[in-house]
Amino acid sequence: MKEMNNPKWVPQLLAWYDVNKRDLPWRDCGDPYKVWVSEVMSQQTRIEAMKPYYDNWMRLFPTLEELAKASEDEVVHAWQGLGYYSRARNLRLGVQDVVNNYGGVVPHNRKEMESLKGVGSYTAGAVLSMAYGEPEVAVDGNVLRIYARLYGIFDDILGTKGKKAITAIVEDTLPHDRPGDFNQALMDFGSAVCIPKTPRCGECPIVNMCHAYQHNVTDQLPVR
Ligand code: ADE
Repeated sequence: MKEMNNPKWVPQLLAWYDVNKRDLPWRDCGDPYKVWVSEVMSQQTRIEAMKPYYDNWMRLFPTLEELAKASEDEVVHAWQGLGYYSRARNLRLGVQDVVNNYGGVVPHNRKEMESLKGVGSYTAGAVLSMAYGEPEVAVDGNVLRIYARLYGIFDDILGTKGKKAITAIVEDTLPHDRPGDFNQALMDFGSAVCIPKTPRCGECPIVNMCHAYQHNVTDQLPVR
């Protein structure tokens, strides 16, 4: 793991998060299963829209074991309305893998986590950091947008080069004492302040360190 570099905006963003963080049922619960379900669901729709699905899911399948035992039909039925059913099928298969081959404990490392059905690098990083406090990044479109603006990166964020360049900076700036909070701070900040079209720079807690703002190029970043 690389030495951590803690620029001034990191504690400022965390302080913003401490005051503004959304109250979400899978937050700060330390349960990797709950985080996993919430992350797969949130890839389908907005957080507010997915919450009822999440609550219903947890009533039906409160634990890994309950989900592993459920039939594919039951699982697909509970997913109805979220769309893209292969996510639900893969979630069930991934959870069965954990129950059958990992003693029911979601693995603590990225390599094993990413070997599970339907788990990519973003989901693995989200679960590992949020549930286990592992120093892992969770880079999605929000994070790419925020870093492109903050660091003035003009590479296409949808291309491999841009993603690689930004991921390296995220790894470098991840605070190892609060990786899960940091990843979630980026998520909340990206949906409340550093939003896609017209960022709310007037409300931004780190505007004084933002390249795009300081150089008047917020309308040009991110490049996609
Ligand atoms: N979007 C996806 N996962 C999220 C989380 N854990 N918190 C806030 N927004 C999210």
